[in-house]
Amino acid sequence: MKFFLDTADLADIRWAARAGLIDGVTTNPTLMSRDAGDVDPNDVLKEICSLVDGPVSAEVVAVDAAGMYDEGRELAKLAENIVVKVPLIEDGLVAARRLAANGIKVNVTLAFSSVQCLVAAKAGATYVSPFLGRLDDIGHDAMEIIRETRIMFDNYSLETKILAASIRHPRHVADAALLGADAATMPPDVLRKLLLHPLTDRGLDQFLNDWSKLVAKSKVNA
Ligand code: G3P
Repeated sequence: MKFFLDTADLADIRWAARAGLIDGVTTNPTLMSRDAGDVDPNDVLKEICSLVDGPVSAEVVAVDAAGMYDEGRELAKLAENIVVKVPLIEDGLVAARRLAANGIKVNVTLAFSSVQCLVAAKAGATYVSPFLGRLDDIGHDAMEIIRETRIMFDNYSLETKILAASIRHPRHVADAALLGADAATMPPDVLRKLLLHPLTDRGLDQFLNDWSKLVAKSKVNA
């Protein structure tokens, strides 16, 4: 499973990239508005693309097909690893099909049902992003969308990648991986939590303590 960082925060992206923990980055207008400060959003995207050896999703804000297509073409010029994100609405699918036909990778976002994911795949999307956390928030079984979409894509040998998004905690990552999602995009705090277990810390403390005892004893006997 590929791990993407769902943020536009350059410090977090630098940390995760240097640690070799991520395969790409996803952004959206909310994340850009939270993290870009007063820097030109395109400059932030270019910087992210230079930090990460993998796909970087950048979202259009037009809501008509022609506008999304034009915006997507401009975003794709920023760097080779840009993936254009378009919303899962009719115009978004028209734009996705045109962008894909022009060799531009597309991430169809805001998917909340397996049939929406199927429609995105038929439009030529490279990625489709089902939003797990937001489905949980309204009391749905979020994992059903991953389960059904995996079966549909496998039934028809569709190459669109399932990118589990709106991840809230490590269990979302584990469940999406068990169900065969191709990638998960998560906030930095969830990525950090993937590394942690209290028994790991306790076990390491014990190993180091026991080693110091051995060193102290061997000094006494020397
Ligand atoms: O980037 C899309 C998605 O991951 C957003 O997540 O937490 O705003 O529901 P969230």
